Amino acid sequence: MTFDEARALFPVLERFAYLNAGTLGPLSRPTLAAIEERLRFDQEHGRGGHDWFMSVLELRTRVREQIADLVGTTPGQVALTSSTTDGCNIVLSGLELGPDDEVVTTNSEHPGLLLPLHVSGVRVRVAEVAALPTAAALETILSCITPRTRLLALSHVLWTTGQVMPVHELKRESGVPVLVDGAQSVGAIPVDVGELDYYTVSCQKWLCGPEPLGALYVRDADQLGIGIPSYFAQKSLEPDGSFVPAEGAGRFDSGWLASPSLAGLEAALAGAPEWRFERAAEMAEVCRGALRERFELVAEGGESTLVSFVPAGDAATEAVRLYDAGVIVRDLPGTGWLRASCGWWTSGGDIDRLFAALA
Ligand SMILES: Cc1ncc(COP(=O)(O)O)c(C=O)c1O
Repeated sequence: MTFDEARALFPVLERFAYLNAGTLGPLSRPTLAAIEERLRFDQEHGRGGHDWFMSVLELRTRVREQIADLVGTTPGQVALTSSTTDGCNIVLSGLELGPDDEVVTTNSEHPGLLLPLHVSGVRVRVAEVAALPTAAALETILSCITPRTRLLALSHVLWTTGQVMPVHELKRESGVPVLVDGAQSVGAIPVDVGELDYYTVSCQKWLCGPEPLGALYVRDADQLGIGIPSYFAQKSLEPDGSFVPAEGAGRFDSGWLASPSLAGLEAALAGAPEWRFERAAEMAEVCRGALRERFELVAEGGESTLVSFVPAGDAATEAVRLYDAGVIVRDLPGTGWLRASCGWWTSGGDIDRLFAALA
């Protein structure tokens, strides 16, 4: 598939310079068709009967396999969830943390991680890493670890600055369990979970799937308690609710997920071209090159697909003005920054439109 063929699959790109996959990715025609087809199929089968039920379970199995492939693991280590936030809640509720335990995080995390962290009751230590080079960020996070540290919890790609955090080095050098918020990494940059312990996936962003869908990688299901059980948690159940857990990470599945959305995600995952990471990185670099001529970039580095910068006026007002000019970017609340998300579908023309609309 050539770039022009791939780009032509996304109706939204006919109208907008769509630079906001960091919030929600564009949906392709095959993805939309798969959603519609599954919706029709479900209605035709009355959403009932053995065959229909089995077809949903098979769909779940296929999507689980696709996601496992994507992050370099096995289907038995992947739970299907509705979001990254869901994944963070599943891990933090299952670890049974208390006020004497500590978790180290960074000062650039999304509420999807921070809120589950806070309500877990654990003591949260915040490493100041925003705008630090990778090596300094690594040292800063490591220096926050104490004998009470039970977990490192941080994003692979910071949603504010777009910096890539050294998650594998952190695991290697600390030996402490690591929960990675993968909302801005999976589908945007190559991801291999390697020795990491927990890794979340948001399917509605860089994977161009419908919302709400997500996934959670769990290295060793037996090391994590089931804090938020769904129907899928159990293999067998007693009248008093005690249960034998289902095999593997499937026990953390967050419940019944809409089958049309799963079908759309299956199509989106199958349709992503092999060259996607190279192309997205290249376009992010083109975007940085264009913007730095006239604006201050929030972080240099060039590893991720998020490009944040300081616009001339108020960021929220600028985002609205850009939308009206056919350019969709995100203003980052409380920072005064705008963020452009560059995907494998992004063209030089999109960057030109952004630059022209900012002028
Ligand atoms: C770094 C990060 N974490 C978590 C989230 C929340 O993702 P979800 O809606 O899948 O919970 C976002 C969404 O923008 C994000 O950027």
